[in-house]
Amino acid sequence: MQLTLLPILLALSSLPAILANAPSHTVQNVGRASCTLAPLGAGKDDSPQFLTAMQACSTVVVPATSTLNISTRLNMTGLTNKHLSLQGTLRFDPNIPYWSTNGFPFTFQTQITFWILGGTNIVAWYDAFASNSSLLRPIILTIFQAKNVLVQNIKMLNSPEWFNLVNEGQNVTYSGITINAASTSSHGPSNTDGWDIYRSDNVVIKDSVINNGDDCVSFKVNSTNVLVSNLNCTGSHGISVGSLGQFAGMFDIVENVTSINVRMSNAQNGARIKAWAGSGVGSGIVKNITFINFIESKVDNPVVIDQCYMTSAAACAQFPSNTLIQDVVFTQISGTSTGSTVANLACSPGARCSNITVNNLALTPPSGTAKYACQNVKLSGSSASLFGTCATT
Ligand SMILES: *[C@@H]1O[C@H](CO)[C@@H](O)[C@H](O)[C@H]1NC(C)=O
Ligand SMILES: *[C@@H]1O[C@H](CO)[C@@H](O)[C@H](O)[C@H]1NC(C)=O
Ligand SMILES: *[C@@H]1O[C@H](CO)[C@@H](O)[C@H](O)[C@H]1NC(C)=O
Ligand SMILES: *[C@@H]1O[C@H](CO)[C@@H](O)[C@H](O)[C@H]1NC(C)=O
Ligand SMILES: *[C@@H]1O[C@H](CO)[C@@H](O)[C@H](O)[C@H]1NC(C)=O
Ligand SMILES: *[C@@H]1O[C@H](CO)[C@@H](O)[C@H](O)[C@H]1NC(C)=O
Ligand SMILES: *[C@@H]1O[C@H](CO)[C@@H](O)[C@H](O)[C@H]1NC(C)=O
Ligand SMILES: *[C@@H]1O[C@H](CO)[C@@H](O)[C@H](O)[C@H]1NC(C)=O
Ligand SMILES: *[C@@H]1O[C@H](CO)[C@@H](O)[C@H](O)[C@H]1NC(C)=O
Repeated sequence: MQLTLLPILLALSSLPAILANAPSHTVQNVGRASCTLAPLGAGKDDSPQFLTAMQACSTVVVPATSTLNISTRLNMTGLTNKHLSLQGTLRFDPNIPYWSTNGFPFTFQTQITFWILGGTNIVAWYDAFASNSSLLRPIILTIFQAKNVLVQNIKMLNSPEWFNLVNEGQNVTYSGITINAASTSSHGPSNTDGWDIYRSDNVVIKDSVINNGDDCVSFKVNSTNVLVSNLNCTGSHGISVGSLGQFAGMFDIVENVTSINVRMSNAQNGARIKAWAGSGVGSGIVKNITFINFIESKVDNPVVIDQCYMTSAAACAQFPSNTLIQDVVFTQISGTSTGSTVANLACSPGARCSNITVNNLALTPPSGTAKYACQNVKLSGSSASLFGTCATT
């Protein structure tokens, strides 16, 4: 099969009364029949007709007036030369017990997803409208084993879990994404990661605004050559590498990741790397990671390395992490923290963090002097002048 490099354009918009028109993407000439979907009506599941149309038609239109009831998981893999124009709404049936046992399972960290979309040469856009945002069911979109994907101008609302998973993707770009997770529960919108990247190479996430309750972006196992740029994250757990090295017998890699021009507000973390230590865990390498130009506001832990993640100090001393961390730069990070410690580099004993540079920090605690904490890291130059001599355990 000839796989030419046309982008997938996918644009979702689901805020009520905004009615922004779909951005005027160039419509790719895909040649064959166009199918327009109308809802089957009250009590009916529109998933089968949606799936059939995606398989049978080269262009599928869900008009702005249509709200499709999705009550069966959507396996849209293996598509070729498709154009999905989702101007209307996909409303995931609010049947929590059903979904919890009927999503597509991912063994990795026990995740499930509503919708997997994959293939090559797919053009789609989605400009959804909902008259009542509280009626919307969460969307989780997994870009699945796909190549050359552009996901742009999406608004995603109230995912019950992660918003986006890039699973085994190559050359996937997200741009102009708006993510909002609001929760009426006292626990907040838990686990609503903006993006998780898994076994994927060459991923770009840019020009997006995220308001959520867990990682803004998380680089998980085997994320390589990733660029995160120009994000505005509020309420999140930060831009995180990991956690890595959790599972015995596995070797996890995160390499060549740059996160640049990030605004991080009211967040648990700013820029973070976390790797497991302790008995019976895995191993790996975190290499060539740069966090540059972060503007942080009220962030609990603005700069963090935790190479004893979920491990007591005693266990970390006895079983240091086998996930090595090297060639890391945290630079040009400014703003405010919520506590006195503005940077904390906690590595396992035995030179398992190397070539870590932290400089050009301008982070201010709410009161008093900023504290810089470190252990088991050898810092050089201007980094050492901030941290002094790190404790060796
Ligand atoms: C959606 O489909 C399910 C399954 O057929 C059905 O139980 C439910 O009533 C439908 N919802 C709507 C709003 O029609
Ligand atoms: C999706 O459908 C394809 C083609 O029918 C099948 O090969 C694949 O196993 C399905 N994927 C999942 C996760 O069920
Ligand atoms: C939105 O939907 C919810 C749930 O059905 C309902 O309680 C609420 O009144 C609706 N709000 C508006 C503005 O229609
Ligand atoms: C990556 O994907 C984009 C579409 O999103 C495409 O335009 C570009 O040519 C692809 N690059 C490579 C190296 O395949
Ligand atoms: C990650 O990449 C390494 C090196 O290629 C490989 O050994 C490991 O199995 C990969 N992990 C997963 C979960 O694919
Ligand atoms: C980005 O975040 C800041 C702080 O939360 C906010 O004041 C600003 O309006 C945001 N910008 C955009 C474009 O959303
Ligand atoms: C990281 O980038 C370097 C330089 O471009 C490249 O040689 C190396 O293969 C990349 N590593 C991975 C895992 O892609
Ligand atoms: C480090 O990663 C960046 C991308 O984040 C890449 O441009 C650069 O070539 C890499 N450097 C090395 C030495 O691999
Ligand atoms: C230290 O890391 C930086 C940033 O990745 C890299 O440019 C430099 O070559 C590394 N130095 C050594 C000695 O490996």
